[in-house]
Formats: sequence, structure tokens, C-alpha cells
Amino acid sequence: MKRYEIHPAHAESPLRVAEFEPAPLGEHEVAVAIKAVSLNYRDLLVSRNTYFCNIPNGLVPCSDGAGDVVAVGKQVRLLAVGDRVATLFFPHWQGGRPDAASVTGALGAESAGAFTERFVSDESGLIKLPAGLSHAEAATLPCAALTAWNCLFEAGTLVPGQTVLLQGTGGVSIFALQFAKAAGARVIITSSSDAKLERARALGADHGINYKTHPDWSQEALRVTGGRGVDVVIEVGGPGTLEQSLASVCIGGRIAYVGVLTGLAGQANPVMLIPKAAALHGIFVGSRAMFADMLGAMTLHGIKPQIDREFAFGEAPAALARLESGGHFGKIVIRVGG
Ligand SMILES: NC(=O)c1ccc[n+]([C@@H]2O[C@H](COP(=O)([O-])OP(=O)(O)OC[C@H]3O[C@@H](n4cnc5c(N)ncnc54)[C@H](OP(=O)(O)O)[C@@H]3O)[C@@H](O)[C@H]2O)c1
Repeated sequence: MKRYEIHPAHAESPLRVAEFEPAPLGEHEVAVAIKAVSLNYRDLLVSRNTYFCNIPNGLVPCSDGAGDVVAVGKQVRLLAVGDRVATLFFPHWQGGRPDAASVTGALGAESAGAFTERFVSDESGLIKLPAGLSHAEAATLPCAALTAWNCLFEAGTLVPGQTVLLQGTGGVSIFALQFAKAAGARVIITSSSDAKLERARALGADHGINYKTHPDWSQEALRVTGGRGVDVVIEVGGPGTLEQSLASVCIGGRIAYVGVLTGLAGQANPVMLIPKAAALHGIFVGSRAMFADMLGAMTLHGIKPQIDREFAFGEAPAALARLESGGHFGKIVIRVGG
């Protein structure tokens, strides 16, 4: 069987295909024939060993996979051979508030990831899929989609009629656009590309701002909200964009701090959160319970993940390069297995 391994020490070509023999299945374990994985910006950080934790040479990458159950251990109760499943980013975060135990073992960084023909996990680390999603679509959900869901409806406490501000047209932001529109919210989205803003409008975005031609885009966000500001911001940038988000958020609003696209060390002054009585909330993906809610909403509203491009198994380096280029809109998927 084949899987990808990451070798951060080989900076020029960190992704390698390796042959392996699957280990015997434990009593509580499930074997999944992975059919597709999706890439996240995090996979770039992992491949460069600049993620939050140290990445050992040989780690199997990717948190996000979907496939078919092909074998189950004797004590497995909830899954059966033939079930279609997706991986959980945090296999131990089943529900409730995160704690030290639930946010350990993240796939594709702290434990072996999904970029393998045969993925083995305790059944609690997998979630059964509804019929309406293909493997490729389902493979886009465990990280980006769940993060967007958590930002909007858990940390963001979004209600219909409120305004959401999204940055760029990558995986998290495009899922957030789709979810926010389904929930009856108004969406303002930024992008470096007018063509991508058009695509976002076609998906329901109410206002698009080109952050290259409007680097001070909070002014535009305030203008289109009549000076009030936005209720929820999903902050995927960091230094530079966080200052704009702090200026854009309304009194009583929430900034969900998710990403590091513009770097790790910023100078943003959060003091305006005080008179605005606004919240800055760090987000780390989400739990199985949130995933189940999200799948229910996607089924009800017929939400289909926006797949930028699907690559063949052997094209993983090209897929990672596409992610790095920032040319994508939504998610990049790689097919696995036959
Ligand atoms: N905390 C968590 O749980 C969590 C979960 C998922 C992701 N993340 C993080 O969130 C970030 C986004 O992840 P992703 O997977 O959605 O990334 P992605 O798909 O690679 O998104 C890339 C897009 O972000 C946009 N972008 C880049 N720089 C920008 C800037 N200065 N201002 C506004 N938009 C900018 C660009 O959109 P345009 O081409 O339209 O300009 C780019 O195409 C990453 O830092 C990732 O590590 C964190």
C-alpha cells in the first residue's frame, strides 16, 4: 500500500510516496480505504516544519480525508464495513469546550494523517457521511469547513440578519460564505482578485472589497454598514489584517482569530475592544458534535463544497504548489486509491 510522508528536512521536495504494510487492526479500530484528501494552508506549514508543533521526518500528512470503511475491530459498535466516513481533525474532541485532552493528537501534525491508502483510527476519530456528498466533497470538510462553522455559529453566535466579514477566498472563507448565506446573514468578503470577488458574489456575497486596491478596507466595511461595523469577522490573516478587523468589528461584535496567512508576530493594539465591548476569540477547528451539526445543515441547505481542482495521487507536489500560489478559490483535493 502507498502513503505520502513529509520530510521537512528536504525543503525542496518534502512530500515523498512510501510503501507500507498496514498493522493488524485493534479491537476498537476501523480501517478506511481513503478515496480523497484535501489540502489546507496548515499542510504547507507542516511541510516546512513551521507549524505549532515539531514535525518528525516521515509523518503522514493531511488532517482531511474521506473514504470507505473496509474492516472493523471486534468492539466497534457504530461503524460497519461499507460506511462512508471522514476523518476528525481532533480525534479526541467529541463535544463541549476544548481542553488539553481533546485538542491533542491532531491528524497530520501530532499523529499520522489521512494521506494514505489505508487509514486506521478508533471509531471515535471518524464521522459517518450523509449520502449527498462525494468522497472529494467530504474530504474538504474536517478542517476548513468545521473551522468556518465554529467561527460563525459557536464562537461567533451569528444570528440571521447580522453581517459577517471574510478575508480572501481560500478554504475557510468560502465555506464561511456559504454557511453565512444559508443562515440569512449579510456577507462582506475581501480578495486580491476582482475575478474571485465575482465568483464570491455568484455564491451570494453581498459586498466584495479588493484588499490590494483598498488596503485600508475597514473603511469600506464601515461604509457599507452605514458606519456600524460588522458583527462577526473571521480573521485568517494576522499582522496587518487584524488591525483592519479591529477597526471593522461593531460594538458587541466578535472576531474569530483563525489564521496566520500574513505571519505570526503582529503589532495590533486590541484596546478598542474595550469601548466596543467586542471579543477576540482564538479558534482551533472544532469538535465531532459541531461536525455533526454542520453536516445536518449542509444536507438541509444542499451546500456543496467549492472544489478549485482535483489532482491525482501522484500530483501531490503540484497540488501543494497550487495552494502555495494562492491562485485557488475554495478547496484543493487529491484523489487517493483506485
Ligand atoms: N485555527 C484553526 O483552527 C484554523 C483552521 C483552518 C485554517 N486555519 C488558518 O487559516 C488560514 C486560512 O486557511 P485556509 O486553509 O482557508 O487557507 P487558503 O485556502 O490557503 O487561503 C488562501 C487565501 O487567503 C487569502 N489571503 C492571503 N493573504 C491575505 C490577506 N493579506 N488578506 C486577505 N486574504 C488573504 C487569499 O485569497 P485571495 O486569493 O482571494 O486574495 C488566498 O488565496 C491559514 O493561516 C490557516 O493556517 C486555522
